[in-house]
Amino acid sequence: MIIRKSPAELEKMRRAGLLVHEILQQMTKMVAEGVSTLDLEVVAEKMIKDAGAKPAFKGYYVPAAGGKYPFVLCTSVNEEVVHGMPSAKRVLKSGDIVSIDTGVCLEGYFGDSAVTIPVGEVSEQVKRLLRVTSESLELAIGQMKEGNRLFDVCGAVERHVTSNGFTIVRDYVGHGIGTSLHEEPQVPNYVDRRNENPRLKEGMVLAIEPMVNAGRPETKVLSDRWTAVTKDGGFAAHFEHSVAVTANGPWVLTRP
Ligand code: MF3
Ligand code: CO
Repeated sequence: MIIRKSPAELEKMRRAGLLVHEILQQMTKMVAEGVSTLDLEVVAEKMIKDAGAKPAFKGYYVPAAGGKYPFVLCTSVNEEVVHGMPSAKRVLKSGDIVSIDTGVCLEGYFGDSAVTIPVGEVSEQVKRLLRVTSESLELAIGQMKEGNRLFDVCGAVERHVTSNGFTIVRDYVGHGIGTSLHEEPQVPNYVDRRNENPRLKEGMVLAIEPMVNAGRPETKVLSDRWTAVTKDGGFAAHFEHSVAVTANGPWVLTRP
């Protein structure tokens, strides 16, 4: 069942979404050569605390990992696709890309967003990977209107990514979001005809999160049980917004 949110609930999700936006803005400012991914974590955790919010990821139990995620951020560098863990040892250098994914819970409502940021000078091909992935998210957001169906959202990502020669990660998907971080439905970045294709209705909120690889789509999880990397070692990009369907069209809750 897809839980629809009232306008008052969407206002609460908006507040959570704007906090996530502010954190990612601050992270974007901080990312530079010589900064560690733990430096980012420390600042993000303080921002969440100061706002009177709770981190959505830290303490979140993930059955596949067999434990609770220990940080407020996922910081996935280069071939890391998702769930990279902040570390003082991971010092960013020119040519890297870092996906920063975070979520918060404010007054019982969640927001979730991610951005992939280049460090210093990155190659033209990597720039294109970031641009195409971010564009695919924007195209999906544009499909978030009443009368459309879930597959319109998923298909928008798939079409743009594949037509530009990149590949879509199939092992991780987006999700509904509300009073839980993960609600129905699953939101794959491709049309999965094994799934239902519900109509989009006012008050539905989806966390749309294209995860796109430069090379092959396959991923594997490292021995730390969390970090998902591309099997072929190629770079991966990840962008995410929490987006509501409203009478006035798509409402991106995680940006101003
Ligand atoms: N944006 C990801 C998701 O919504 C991040 C989850 S990290 C976790 O699934 F640690 F909380 F699992
Ligand atoms: Co998410």
